[in-house]
Amino acid sequence: MTSSNDIRATFLDYFARNGHTVVESSPLVPRNDPTLMFANSGMVQFKNVFTGQEKRPYTRATTAQKSVRAGGKHNDLDNVGYTARHHTFFEMLGNFSFGDYFKEAAIPYAWELLTKDFALPKDRLLVTVYSEDDEAPAIWKKVAGLPDSRIIRISTSDNFWRMGDTGPCGPCSEIFFDHGDKIPGGPPGSPNEDGDRFIEIWNLVFMQFLEEPAGTRNPLPRPSIDTGMGLERFAAILQGKHDNYDTDTLRAIILASAEATGQEPDGPFRSSHRVVADHLRAGAFLIADGVLPSNEGRGYVLRRILRRAMRHAHMMGSRDPLMHRLLPSLVRQMGAAYPELVRAEALISETLRLEETRFRSLLERGLGLLAEETARLGSGQTLPGDVAFRLYDTYGFPLDLTQDALRAEGRPVDVDGFNAAMTEQRKRARAAWAGTGEAATEAVWFDLKEKVGASEFLGYTTESAEGEIVAIVVDGKPVDAAPVGAEVAVLLNQTPFYAESGGQVGDTGIIQAGPSCTIAVKDTQKKLGALFVHVGTVMEGEAKLGQAVTAEVDHTRRSKIRAHHSATHLLHEALRRRLGNHVAQKGSLNAPDRLRFDVSQPTPMSEEDLHWVEAEVNARIRENAEVITRLMTPEAAVEAGAMALFGEKYGEEVRVVGMGHDAAAVEKHGVYSLELCGGTHVRRTGDIGLFKILSEGAVSAGVRRVEAVTGDAALAHIAGMEESLIAAAAVLKAQPGELAGRIAALVEDRRKLEREVAELRKKLATGGGGAEVETVAGLRVALRDLGEVPARDLKGLAEAILKGGTADVVALVSSAEGKASIVVGLGEAAKGRTDAVALVRAASAAVGGKGGGGRPDMAQAGGPDADKGAEALAAVRDALAQGIAA
Ligand code: ALA
Repeated sequence: MTSSNDIRATFLDYFARNGHTVVESSPLVPRNDPTLMFANSGMVQFKNVFTGQEKRPYTRATTAQKSVRAGGKHNDLDNVGYTARHHTFFEMLGNFSFGDYFKEAAIPYAWELLTKDFALPKDRLLVTVYSEDDEAPAIWKKVAGLPDSRIIRISTSDNFWRMGDTGPCGPCSEIFFDHGDKIPGGPPGSPNEDGDRFIEIWNLVFMQFLEEPAGTRNPLPRPSIDTGMGLERFAAILQGKHDNYDTDTLRAIILASAEATGQEPDGPFRSSHRVVADHLRAGAFLIADGVLPSNEGRGYVLRRILRRAMRHAHMMGSRDPLMHRLLPSLVRQMGAAYPELVRAEALISETLRLEETRFRSLLERGLGLLAEETARLGSGQTLPGDVAFRLYDTYGFPLDLTQDALRAEGRPVDVDGFNAAMTEQRKRARAAWAGTGEAATEAVWFDLKEKVGASEFLGYTTESAEGEIVAIVVDGKPVDAAPVGAEVAVLLNQTPFYAESGGQVGDTGIIQAGPSCTIAVKDTQKKLGALFVHVGTVMEGEAKLGQAVTAEVDHTRRSKIRAHHSATHLLHEALRRRLGNHVAQKGSLNAPDRLRFDVSQPTPMSEEDLHWVEAEVNARIRENAEVITRLMTPEAAVEAGAMALFGEKYGEEVRVVGMGHDAAAVEKHGVYSLELCGGTHVRRTGDIGLFKILSEGAVSAGVRRVEAVTGDAALAHIAGMEESLIAAAAVLKAQPGELAGRIAALVEDRRKLEREVAELRKKLATGGGGAEVETVAGLRVALRDLGEVPARDLKGLAEAILKGGTADVVALVSSAEGKASIVVGLGEAAKGRTDAVALVRAASAAVGGKGGGGRPDMAQAGGPDADKGAEALAAVRDALAQGIAA
């Protein structure tokens, strides 16, 4: 059997042999197309290469591209598990020519690979071509010797491939495999073409036009080739199967699922196993590319996929989380071709387990509710939208899951009703929010935004600028003027002050107009994404509406913030390179004195990782490369290869910040780090000065935090360490380099001494050193002042003496830590005859204490008069002599 791994390798090798560069699959989260949820075909990463906007060092490429069709325009989720050829995750094999060869070579390549390398019988193959394309059929005839009857002309859009409403497009030719007349189905273009007899295996697109704007079609600079072959369906053919789920990779996961659940792979839970197998692949690959389950955007698509699978796992009777237990079978199958799976395995496993654990109890309760509700409905009757919404809102059931759960009984869900309930809930949430105290103070900003419009930010290019005071807010209310001492929030029509966002803290500084107004700004906050609110105190004169002022950012502080922020970008890229593409930003802080950076990463980073990353960032700093920032539309920015943060909202324009050089990073135009970022940055990486990691640790499951300092703060940190070292060395009269050895020796000495001291104390207390025992009222009494022996040791010592059998009553006092502590213990002979608590109380009075406590045979007390130990012991003696009874 030809394994899927062999097929992939054969395909890539074939095209490599024919002058193609083997290019890695792009991540599932497209870097260059904001309109796409996930990469869904091989050409996505080359979109701009076709149009000539982007240049690569090669004109021929071949890839095995990870693709997901769920949640976006192409959504196969609903069908997965119930058909032979639907997947949420699949691999697309392709070869590409960027203005190099065209159909005259693309067709022979495809034919040779299929019939020679893969040895498919020629008479089982047929092709379709676009009806207006006369060249393709001629080439097919010549190259493959196909008769006209097996070159089918299709006039519909099926054979004109378009990436979307705009973009590169062209006629295409599809290659079909004929499973023979035992399987029902007609050839492409015939009325019963949907049958299973003729299966499309490969689409060759002759990219010829650029549609832009929509409706106008202009020739591409040079005609190109884009092809796509779904690995799963091709594997089915080579492995003699009709069903993609019977091919090696998916079958292995299905068998693992069967084993883990104890359900036959092809028994009543056949569909469930398939759902689980497919969704495990989609989930694992998405997590490896930095997506984590959430309630928004890509994260929610991932959650939908996972929860859909988790219901099936539950149906199969799996009582413990199942998905993560199947992960090893996936990694075994695909880890060699996709090392990111191996690198992120722990994160994937942990994420799956957590999601399944969380969802499990909700799932059971939700299914209960669902059963109750459907019991009330007639068969086939639609489930009301508000029930589906309740399941969503209270039990975390994505709509797909509810639909899938009702699929078997043929019961539809009222999707419009569901959406209406969702809209209704949003409205309620808004109304509720409008009534809170916070909202009341926020309302002022809504009004001001309407009145004065967005603040213009000048701070990328200057730290000092003129502006006009357009609003003053005191205690949540707009005012016309504010006197000296007032705490104000001030809006200017334009400002160089950066307002806190994207992890970068807000600027501080001074707003002033000569002696008539000085405002010390201690923070700048952004409201409603548009207003830069300067928060501070009027120090001089008064703040007045309409006043022209100079706004001056605290330059030193801003410089330090900049250095930390730029260092964060370098750190992000260095971490990705060291740990893998699953590293995605989960939070950050860029302050004047430090930076904090949270990333998705399952396991602690090792010392070596941190050293590597620190050295890498410092090397980039020394490179002193220019930091390039450009303003673009979000689309253009992402097209340029900038890293976009998932879930972040971007406005009309975004800034793209690039720093450092890396010729190998072609997808980012040779820039080392390229990110969408609204923050302020250094001019050249050298301005960061120095980068030092302080710590690395866990924040939450799957998220690690790195804390670091740059520039002055890094120097100060190192100087501080050095100072401590020198001080420590001076104490030991050693060189700093000798410290570790010397301290280790000291610690060892100290341990030895402690042991000796303990021994000596014990000896001293228990009778060594000529300690005496006197007889009082017929009892042998040991009264001892132990001086500086720690109070906590007294009880143990008293027990040791009693155990020695030389005394019936023991009273010990210590004067450690400047106070008197007393312990009285009774041996067998004294028990019942006298009372340790009463004795210790008598002693306590002698040292200015107030009572004491314990058991009748062992009690303790204390008092402030450390020097009255002898009196305390005398008090015990007297009390005994006076015959204190039990
Ligand atoms: N881009 C073409 C497809 O997806 C090859 O079918």
